[in-house]
Parts: sequence; C-alpha cells; structure tokens
Amino acid sequence: MCGIVGYVGSEDAAEFLIDGLRRLEYRGYDSAGVAIVCEDDIAVTRSVGRIQSLADRLGTPPPGTLGLGHTRWATHGPATEENAHPHIGGDGEVVLVHNGVIENYQILKDGLIEKGYHFKSATDSEVIAHLVAEGLSNTPAIEDQPHARYVTAVQWAIAQLRGTYGLAIVFRDKPGFMIAARFGSPLVIGVGRGEYFVASDASPIAGRTDRIVYLADHQLAVLTADGFSVLHRDSGKVRVNIQPLEADSGEVSMNGYDHYMLKEIYEQPDALRNAMRGRLNDQDATAVFGGLNLTPQQLRGVERIILTGCGTSWHSALVGEYMIEELARIPVCVEYASELRYRNPPIENNTLVFGITQSGETADTLAALNETKRKGHRTLAICNVVGSSIAQASDGGVYLHAGPEIGVASTKAFTSQCCVLAMLALYFGRMRHMSFETGGRIIEDLRRLPATIEQALTCDAEVRRVAEKYQSATNVLYLGRRYNFPTALEGALKLKEISYIHAEGYPAAEMKHGPIALVDADTPSIFIMPRGTTYDKVLSNMEEVKARGGPVIAIASSDDTEIRKIADDVIMIPEAPEFLQPIVSVIPLQLLSYHIAVLRGCDVDKPRNLAKSVTVE
Ligand code: G6P
Repeated sequence: MCGIVGYVGSEDAAEFLIDGLRRLEYRGYDSAGVAIVCEDDIAVTRSVGRIQSLADRLGTPPPGTLGLGHTRWATHGPATEENAHPHIGGDGEVVLVHNGVIENYQILKDGLIEKGYHFKSATDSEVIAHLVAEGLSNTPAIEDQPHARYVTAVQWAIAQLRGTYGLAIVFRDKPGFMIAARFGSPLVIGVGRGEYFVASDASPIAGRTDRIVYLADHQLAVLTADGFSVLHRDSGKVRVNIQPLEADSGEVSMNGYDHYMLKEIYEQPDALRNAMRGRLNDQDATAVFGGLNLTPQQLRGVERIILTGCGTSWHSALVGEYMIEELARIPVCVEYASELRYRNPPIENNTLVFGITQSGETADTLAALNETKRKGHRTLAICNVVGSSIAQASDGGVYLHAGPEIGVASTKAFTSQCCVLAMLALYFGRMRHMSFETGGRIIEDLRRLPATIEQALTCDAEVRRVAEKYQSATNVLYLGRRYNFPTALEGALKLKEISYIHAEGYPAAEMKHGPIALVDADTPSIFIMPRGTTYDKVLSNMEEVKARGGPVIAIASSDDTEIRKIADDVIMIPEAPEFLQPIVSVIPLQLLSYHIAVLRGCDVDKPRNLAKSVTVE
C-alpha cells in the first residue's frame, strides 16, 4: 500500500526519491508524487499512474538536497492528481506525505475550514498538512532552539489525530530540515554519512546505507544533513537503536526473470533452505527456535493455539492447523485476523496466538495480535520482514528468512510459512508424545523438501501448455481434501489475484453442496490429488465432474499413471509425505496462475486494485 521516501543530505534528492519510489512500487499504488525543497520554495510534482509517468512529468528535476516522495493507494477520494501526495498545508509553508488512515479527519477538516483553510483534495492526509500549518501559526520561535517551533507544531498536530500515520514533513521556511513521525504505519530511517533516508520500509534504502533505525509508535525523528534525533511524541529525546541493514539492493533485482513473481516461485528451494537453516536438531530429533522468548515449561503448558492472518497467510495458517493437530496433538483454531480483532471469542488460559504475515505490516493482523496481547495472552509472529511492526509488537516469533517478496501475489512466503509451521509442529510434538524416531523421520522429510521443490519446478513447461489451453476460462474450481484443501484455496486465490478469473477453492467433497452447479464444458476443475489418505474419495469427486461434462485437470503424484485415463490434463508432482504435500502441490498452481496472467496480458507483479502490504483496515 502507500509508500514513503525522503532524503536529506548533500546530493540531489530527486535521484533517490524516484529510485526509492520504484522500489516501493511492489506495495501497490495508483498515483505518486515528489516534493523537492529548493532555495525558498518547494516544488511539488504529482501524477496518476506509474512512477514512470511521474519521472516523465518531472523531466529535469529541480535541484535540491531535501525532498519527499509518495506512492498512494486510494482510500479517501479517487486516484486523481489532486488526491496524490505530497499535500500542501497553509499557504505552502508545510508539505507532507502520509501513510495510514485518519479516522477523525472530517471533524478536523470542518474546524480548519472554519478557520479559513482551503482544501484542494478529498483526502484525509491534507488535513494533517493544514493542521501542522495551524500549529506553526500558533507557535512562536524560541531563541537558540531553531527546531523547537517546528517540532512543537508537529507534536500539537499529531496529538489530535485518531487513526494511523507514517509522516514525512518539510517546511518552506526551514530548508535542510525534515520531521518524520510514526503511529501504526511503519517508518524507517537509513543512517548514511552526511545524509539520511526516510522510507516506509527498508527496500528503498538497501544498498544506500547498511545502518537503519526502525521508528516505534509515537516516535518522531528530526533530521538534517548534520544529524538526526528521535523524540517521543509527548516527551523528550529517546535512545536510538541503530541496527545493521542486511538486505543489499541486488536482492530486489529481477535477476533475469521476466517478473518478480516468477523469480520468487523459483527461489522457493533456497527460501526453504533458509527457513530451516540452524533449526533442525538431529541430536534431539526436534526443531530449535531462538526467538520464541518462552521457557520450555511455558511452551509445554500450551493447551491451545490460535493461528491468525490474512490472505495467503491465512491459507498457510490452515495448513498449520492440520500439521500441528496431527503431529503435536494440540487443538488449533484458525481465525481471519480481521474477524478476530472484533469478534472477542473466549480464549482460554495457556493459549498461544501466532500472527502469520509476510510483510509484518498487515493492519488487521497487527490489531488482532494487539487485542489478544492486551487480554494477557502470549502473541508470537511468523513473519518475513525483519523489524516490521508485527515483529516488534509480538512477544517473540520466527522469521521466515525468505528474502524480499516483491510480487504482490505471495508465493515463497506461503511455502516458507508452511515449512516453519511444520517445524513448529515437530517442536511441539517432540515436547509431548512424539517419539524420537518419528521426530527423526520428520527431520529427514523436511531436509528432502528443497530438492523435491526443485523437481516440482520442472513441471513448468507442461503447466504453460495447460495455461494456453485454459487461458480464456471465466470460472475455475480448485478442489482438494485434507492438507490439499488449503492448497485449493491458495491456488484459487493466486488465479483471481493476477489473472482476474473468478476461481473458487473448496474441500473436494463439499463440491456436491453447491459448486457442482457451476460445472459445464467451459468451467475447468483442478483436482489437487497426490496419493494419500483421501485419494480414492477425490477420484470419485473427479468422476462426478467428468460425468457432467466439466473439463478436469489433475495435480497428481508422478507414479499415478491411471489418472491420465480420467483427467483431461495431468500435471505430475514428486512424492512427499502428506503433511508436506501443500508445499509441493502449490508449485504448479502458482505457475499456472502466472502463465495464464502473462498470456492474458495482465500486470503480474502489480495486479489492479491490490496492495502488497495492506496497512489499512
Ligand atoms: C495482501 C497481499 C497478499 C497477502 C495478504 C496478507 O492482500 O496482496 O498477498 O497474502 O495481504 O499479507 P501479509 O503480509 O500479512 O502476509
């Protein structure tokens, strides 16, 4: 969703701003803009559409060593130039960019209009710009404290906001000076030599500096080319924790692939190796996690687990439910984070709550974890982005180490999440009834997984052929049972997200209770049916679809030669134990949606209306 960049230093700001905005494109946006502070003016340029249109409009950028940039994903008001950021406050004395949502903007706006402020956009963000201008007009300068008036005005303004914000603010009358502030919407500061970078995540900063500060909620950073300090919104300076920034900029290049999504699909064997590195312990036949921050006694006492997340992460939670209940025999319940945050279900003592999230920024997941934490439950995160809001807000957790995921449709995060959940199932299982032998066998299964995925990826050419055949479908059914039911949901989601074809995932047996009415010659059904407990049952479901004239595609085990006699098309996948099958069987489904989207001319990495990090409710 919306992205922020800012620069203060001695170089021309525009180069970093445009490059940084390009690196934030993956979050999803529909308009963009930059502000560059020149001598005694601030040049603001905005444009609807891609960053390239903004760069074209900017032409030769104005010189200036201080500036802001923004990508906007419309919430209040349509995607127009007027609604794009940066927004201007007062008569141009304040310019800012904002991520997040201000819930009480209308009442603030009414008050500002009464005071004579003119609004040019329909956004909630412009309210903040005028509010800071109003703060400035009420705040006298203080001798010997050149920044104080500006800091006070911002503190006064943000104290009135209800909602979430990540803000970067510059002032016409204070060149070389910027304030950044955060509540509920992430903001990081890249600490360079004689230059500082502000961004909504680390990706624009990677390669520019290797030192980063993750601002916490209610913090405010004051930046000039000579240094920076961090304050609490209501009190004085706070100690800054400068952390190393590991990702280098090379990691976010496409490495010769046509799209990030395809690159990330092919990165899955390595992502799985990284998720498992150092976490499998042969001696005790268990998994090892360094960041759970709970004693073995506390973990042994866990009587129930709640897994929560959104989108693809919710699907991996479903896989985790099957794994943990089967291998560790602990009851698990899976909740949509958006429901959990308001549903107020009874949660027993000794319940552990895991938030599963690639970005670590999903607003609903963060709120659900905060709500359960407030009630006194332990909250842990299974998260990819180091230092993200959810990683910071939870009591502990497990990082995926999958590397940056740029394609909006999640791929390697899903398989890495499933892998971490399998290791957690092993860990909890070994704390309880699971034998040393079973633990050892699971470790072997997990170790084989990256090579199995490498083999699964060789189906690519066959999947492309199937994609050509079905690219014009308008409805597709995805059906699977047990561990492959969540895979069916994930396959359907992938197709919807990037090729805009309506698709539904169902437990195969449920098909008879509704979806079978959709079956006709133009509605393909994809059966995810590697060999396993329910193979014969799924085969019968497939016959039922065939009998009604529906084309069927089978995702089947490589030794299943019989299936070719029934299915119209078959994509073979390598053998894997049932609990790991979702990680294998999702590969052809990811590739299928990728190829269909490419064949239909869709924007694979930046599908319409979607955002990578959903930072609003
Ligand atoms: C968005 C993305 C999905 C993702 C979901 C949850 O909708 O487009 O790909 O699965 O958010 O995101 P998270 O970062 O919490 O896993």
